[in-house]
Amino acid sequence: MQVINGNEVSQIIRTQIKEEVAKLKANGGKVPHLAAILVGEDGASKTYVAAKEKDCHEVGFNSTVLRFDANISELELLEEIEKINANKNIDGLIVQLPLPKHINEKKITEAISYKKDVDGFHPYNVGLMFKGLPTFLPATPYGIIKLLEHYKISTLGKHCVVIGRSDIVGKPMSALMLQYNCTVTVCHSRTVDINKYLLDADIVIAALGIPKFLKADMIKEGAVVIDVGITRIDDATSKKGFKLIGDVDYENVSTKASWITPVPGGVGPMTRVGLLLNTLDAIKRR
Ligand code: GUN
Repeated sequence: MQVINGNEVSQIIRTQIKEEVAKLKANGGKVPHLAAILVGEDGASKTYVAAKEKDCHEVGFNSTVLRFDANISELELLEEIEKINANKNIDGLIVQLPLPKHINEKKITEAISYKKDVDGFHPYNVGLMFKGLPTFLPATPYGIIKLLEHYKISTLGKHCVVIGRSDIVGKPMSALMLQYNCTVTVCHSRTVDINKYLLDADIVIAALGIPKFLKADMIKEGAVVIDVGITRIDDATSKKGFKLIGDVDYENVSTKASWITPVPGGVGPMTRVGLLLNTLDAIKRR
């Protein structure tokens, strides 16, 4: 079994991005500028936005975080998005999800200019992605593709089972694996006899959000296992007060997998890199 090291690969790509930004600066070009909107006080969302801000600074991007109270109205939020859409200085915009219940996430996602939609959530960009045309790819599937490419893990003719059908991971991941010449099965909470599909899978991508769901007896010998799960569990012994648990029972599954991503240090850092790559790309698309 070989470990897919997301920390290492993300660091290589970050260094490449940093070098590219330095070149842009030296040539008097525009430095990528990412804006993030954070609504409310959700702990995980605050952590993610702070991480994105830190990543931007590390590679030399400009970044702006706009923080709003949880009771901001949908209309006010739409107006803020319009301002950023019109701001020539800002290249990419993300609105951290989830949003408070009174705000329609679909409306918000569609209000972001597709040219600045570095999350790749706008229906126009989703359409381009499904057609295999150049666009912003959602950060997690993008990061996973980069991992597979880095380790030269073959996808040609492989059976890939994606567990989970979210708009952010499962659906785009299945479309991308199809483009990478896999035969793709998407399983979800209503799938009958999921083991039947999993036992035939050459590549399993687990993105269902159930800690340690995938066990060794559910996979084929030598399968490639990608774990997208990041459930937070309280842990008084950790400095952060919590630990992250994946959707894969790592100790158990690693005895049978050929390649496996750990949690943390697998897909997570690659998601962050996916967003940076899109933000750099936003400059080129202007
Ligand atoms: N919430 C969970 N994942 C994401 C993401 O990739 N982008 C945004 N904007 N919000 C999220």
